[in-house]
Amino acid sequence: MLIFEKVSLLKNHISYSKKQGKSIGFVATMGALHSGHVSLVRQAKQRDSIVVVSIFVNPTQFNKQDDLVKYPRNNERDKRLLDEVDCDIVFIPSVEEMYPNKVESEDINLEGLDKNMEGTYRTNHFDGVATVVKRLFEIISPDRAYFGLKDFQQYLIVKHISNVLKLGPEVIGLEIERNEKGLALSSRNERLSESEKEEALIIYQSINWAKKNYQNLSPQNLINKLKLDFEKSNLDLEYIEICDPLSLNPIKHWSEYKEARIFIAANLGKVRLIDNDSLF
Ligand code: PAF
Repeated sequence: MLIFEKVSLLKNHISYSKKQGKSIGFVATMGALHSGHVSLVRQAKQRDSIVVVSIFVNPTQFNKQDDLVKYPRNNERDKRLLDEVDCDIVFIPSVEEMYPNKVESEDINLEGLDKNMEGTYRTNHFDGVATVVKRLFEIISPDRAYFGLKDFQQYLIVKHISNVLKLGPEVIGLEIERNEKGLALSSRNERLSESEKEEALIIYQSINWAKKNYQNLSPQNLINKLKLDFEKSNLDLEYIEICDPLSLNPIKHWSEYKEARIFIAANLGKVRLIDNDSLF
């Protein structure tokens, strides 16, 4: 497994590999890898000849300095894990390599996809994500980029910028990896105790309840019912939304849309958890 820290060296290597007819698969991460990331790498390996994983804790997507400082970092462990799954290249740039001029987001039109849900609670978060993903795509020139659907809004935004800015890669969304009880895997889960992981299951249970019962309730009544359940829990709910998975417009009547997706975000202590799934 090759490790690159410098943009110029990685670019040279990739352009040489492309000339040899190799396809490039890319998995963007902020490190603290878990089996969700490993699964993305495995699926990328099935389709592409060379898989590049980036590890970069992107400062412009954090709106709370505290969250950036506390974000789990363990590059040595991450590199071992990636080596075990036959990752070909790891890119670990410094902040200066990724932001040579100023550490700030570019002004990229996200056409409102960033306005609700995560966008409401994490101001400018998606400007930072779009900026860094655009730069990573420009450096790595992947044929395909693999993103987990746990961050569905992020996946949609990345797909959007990749199309509109003609960045090149096909953006592929892969199903959410869960632990044996259903909790969506996340780097932040590392900060939950075993009993907190049990409490956090209310998110997954709510999603499953919605999938089974949505036909008997209006979208708003469904949301209200689930909110009452959260009030009885130790989780501090940020939002439950039911949206069209293409525009992310909130759904008021089931009949208006062909597809619907439920999204939940909640805090357990200082750990923020998100999850989502398709209702139909
Ligand atoms: O999902 C993440 O880990 C980050 O938002 C990403 C896509 C690596 C950009 O920093």
